[in-house]
Amino acid sequence: ATSPAADDTGNGVGAAGRARIDARTLRTDRWWLQPVLTVVGLSAFVIYAGVRAFVRTAYWVPEYHYLTPFYSPCISTSCVPGSSHFGTPIGDLPGFIPLGFIALPFLLGFRITCYYYRKAYYRSVWFSPPACAVAEPHAKYTGETRLPLIVQNVHRYFFYVAAIVSVINTYDAIVAFHGRTGGFGFGLGNLILLGNVIMLWAYTLSCHSCRHITGGRLKHFSRHPVRYWMWTQITKLNNRHMLLAWITLGTLVLTDLYVMLVSSGVFPDPRFVN
Ligand code: FES
Repeated sequence: ATSPAADDTGNGVGAAGRARIDARTLRTDRWWLQPVLTVVGLSAFVIYAGVRAFVRTAYWVPEYHYLTPFYSPCISTSCVPGSSHFGTPIGDLPGFIPLGFIALPFLLGFRITCYYYRKAYYRSVWFSPPACAVAEPHAKYTGETRLPLIVQNVHRYFFYVAAIVSVINTYDAIVAFHGRTGGFGFGLGNLILLGNVIMLWAYTLSCHSCRHITGGRLKHFSRHPVRYWMWTQITKLNNRHMLLAWITLGTLVLTDLYVMLVSSGVFPDPRFVN
């Protein structure tokens, strides 16, 4: 057998000048493990988040003002009383529209166009290529130079909206410091909400677009000491972007799951104050 794109004259694996190798790959290690784990992890999140975004149950704990990030901000009259921290300017929504419809498409867009997730699904889902030194099944490679993938360039605009959503999630986490008697109080749920928000900020600020917006296109760092300082801090976070991308998928699920379980009365929220 020849490699999948051996007849191609473009710039795929069969392009002139590329080594002709009969085997699909000469790698003998478990190169497929990472793509498999990536697909399993991403699919699990998409299924969980997809179901939870639509069910409209157990997303708010009235006693402690815990709101799951999947329903924030909840601005429709269909939202349960108390869960709308920013009012209800929108009337009732039909069941096929998630109550978090304002933020969810932007958050989805932010993640789909994220430089890390692009790498993840280009490799693991589209096999372009599945791993280093493993031939891809596609005859041509045009990168992100034309439709539809050229649209990935809108990532920075999703970043701006995602930063606003992080502010909203931060507000949700702050108003949740609410005790049984109405004053200050906190329990395990607050720590989970807070931990999630901190991780969301870390992920959002570690964005490649954020790094570029902060310190890109500067000719002289010495003339922009503040931007240079911010850029160096964001660069440190940026080095961990992949890790933060996965951690935040985990903290989002954990936060939502916790709110769901407490809200459904599966177990009470352990309280530390009030
Ligand atoms: Fe991943 Fe911007 S590059 S969020």
